[in-house]
Amino acid sequence: MKTRITELFGIKHPIIQGGMHFVGLAEMAAAVSNAGGLGIITGLTQRTPELLAAEIARCRAMTDKPFGVNLTFLPSVTPPDYPGYVKAIIDSGVKAVETAGNNPAKWLPALKEAGVKVIHKCTSVRHALKAEAIGCDAISVDGFECGGHPGEDDVPNYILLPRAAEELKIPFVASGGVANGRQLAAALALGAEGINMGTRFIATKEAPVHDNVKQAIVAATELDTRLIMRPLRNTERVLTNSAVERLLVKEHELGSKMKFEDIIAEVAGVYPKVMQDGDMEAGAWSCGMVVGLIHDIPTCQELIDTIMADAESIIRKRLAGFLDA
Ligand SMILES: Cc1cc2nc3c(=O)[nH]c(=O)nc-3n(C[C@H](O)[C@H](O)[C@H](O)COP(=O)(O)O)c2cc1C
Repeated sequence: MKTRITELFGIKHPIIQGGMHFVGLAEMAAAVSNAGGLGIITGLTQRTPELLAAEIARCRAMTDKPFGVNLTFLPSVTPPDYPGYVKAIIDSGVKAVETAGNNPAKWLPALKEAGVKVIHKCTSVRHALKAEAIGCDAISVDGFECGGHPGEDDVPNYILLPRAAEELKIPFVASGGVANGRQLAAALALGAEGINMGTRFIATKEAPVHDNVKQAIVAATELDTRLIMRPLRNTERVLTNSAVERLLVKEHELGSKMKFEDIIAEVAGVYPKVMQDGDMEAGAWSCGMVVGLIHDIPTCQELIDTIMADAESIIRKRLAGFLDA
């Protein structure tokens, strides 16, 4: 399949693996890229720019295909060494960056000068238009159903994608809630030129996380995610567990008076405990409603091949069949 996204990133299939804290390691990115998609290393999971450079080198040893790096700009009192991370990316020769969180304007000139293609992930048409105006190459349109931070507008992809299609000139992918070929075909129909998946890629053989996480994803249904941190306007969609339910009681009781310090036990330092140790009650971790559509743990190659074959069959047979009839 050829779209503006496959052309932009030099990949076989229009499928991107979104940055995921403590999941987007070299093994994950390489497996997705080797299967013909665009794998993404999560920059901030590496504690320093030097460690990110080493992770990129590790990934390069595992694939000769293009892969990218996610740079998440978080609201933070003591921000990470972003100049150092950007330099590490440029010096490594990586040619694709997924930005998320804040507006990436400050970092675009250096990235563009180095020939890096930037896909900005955002949850609203107005932010997508801003990203287009400042020179981003593509957008990952992240709907309300997504795992992680869906923003505060609560617009699901059935509306958000065709709205993006009305307004954007640069290509965009459908992000959030996607797991299968049926949805790739739908995303293309809605105006996207590919898909970005997070949660679905965690339940693959190569995802470098504890098996408990993969089993929890397979066992969960579309009813098992919760939105947390709404009172802080930092909403996150997570898989429910005892820590999340405890956090939600606090949110209910404290309301708009709630501060980050009140929930630190449920949200700080959770990712290594969940992803590496498999402690599924350790705290809140990002997870999409798409868990309801995830029933197996394939290899990335099997997953991507199935998605592509199903999408192609739906487009060629099912959809074309309606017209021929
Ligand atoms: C466990 C997990 C961790 C994530 N961490 C990040 C992150 O650090 N930075 C980021 O930009 N997005 C992060 N995301 C969001 C994904 O990149 C992607 O946008 C999202 O998962 C898409 O929704 P889906 O899970 O329904 O596919 C994370 C998602 C998950 C599930």
